[in-house]
Amino acid sequence: KEYIGVGVIGLGVVAGQVSKVLHEREEFLSAQLGFPLKLKKVKVLPQDMSRPLAKLLPEGVLTTDEDDFFNTPGLDIVVEAIGGEYPAFNLLSRGLKMGKCVVTSNKEVIAKHAPELVKLARENNTGLRCEASVGGGIPLISPFQYDLAANHINGIYAIINGTTNYILTRMAKEGLDFETALKQAQSLGYAEANPSNDIEGTDAVYKLAIMASINFQCKVKPEDIYREGISRLTSRDFCYADELGFNIKLLAITKPGNGQIEARVHPVFLPKDEWLAKVDGVFNAVLVEGDLVGPVLFQGQGAGASATSSAVVADVLAAAQDIHLGVGNRMRWNMDKPLGVKPMSD
Ligand code: HSE
Repeated sequence: KEYIGVGVIGLGVVAGQVSKVLHEREEFLSAQLGFPLKLKKVKVLPQDMSRPLAKLLPEGVLTTDEDDFFNTPGLDIVVEAIGGEYPAFNLLSRGLKMGKCVVTSNKEVIAKHAPELVKLARENNTGLRCEASVGGGIPLISPFQYDLAANHINGIYAIINGTTNYILTRMAKEGLDFETALKQAQSLGYAEANPSNDIEGTDAVYKLAIMASINFQCKVKPEDIYREGISRLTSRDFCYADELGFNIKLLAITKPGNGQIEARVHPVFLPKDEWLAKVDGVFNAVLVEGDLVGPVLFQGQGAGASATSSAVVADVLAAAQDIHLGVGNRMRWNMDKPLGVKPMSD
């Protein structure tokens, strides 16, 4: 092959930054791989055509037509970063059925459809990569699938929503009110298109479903996970927490036990000297307890265009390497264990 060709679907916060990095760093990324990597096509909505970012991309790269996008000659890798369940699911499925390697940052579609998408990838001997779907720029999916695979995982405790951690930090440290803190998180590009998904814990539930499914090798439905967001917290809660030596954090927790798994998202009072209690701002942190390795803490920017593009482009590089070496699918993601999620009332 003369080169590995990449197509990106979307031109929003993440997709736009990914296209920019693929274009501006073409030489550097190709050198990282040892063979050429090219941005071939970007599928946009008609209203995106006039965006400043659209003008930065080479002539002929943009298209508004889905068929034109998928039929682009030399297209090996499809990146989806439009978010939401549909049409993302159809676009990913179409790419996989055509034998393209697909990369997504979309936690909702992965949390809801991992079993079908993983199956499609295997049937078509191609890859499905979703590093950016959990924890923004922090490497998590890859360590879970490979580096920690020798361990029985005893538990995962995580701050995995940047928007809510940013809001909680600003409210606790600066006494900022909820609305102002949320507006700032939105203007920094951290929040979801619908920020209630952040605030009410839905985004964290999606990410927890993905982490639990990979680590415990079972299917986890988002609707089976107990969820409580941060919208009912008051300034009085922060005063009490502080007086008693705690920080308030929105945690996603999962652990195995008695043929089931526990999986829940809710605000927690954490003693101020705990690792996770010290994680502030848009940072995410995931504490994984493996039986061989002991506790491992992953920490970094869990949201925002730049950090998230780091994970998406890393997936593109890994996919390009697989294609170059002729390795169809080397994903470790089995979901065949019959472990259900334990109801919270038990
Ligand atoms: N809205 C998400 C967050 C973006 O705040 O963490 C990253 O998934």
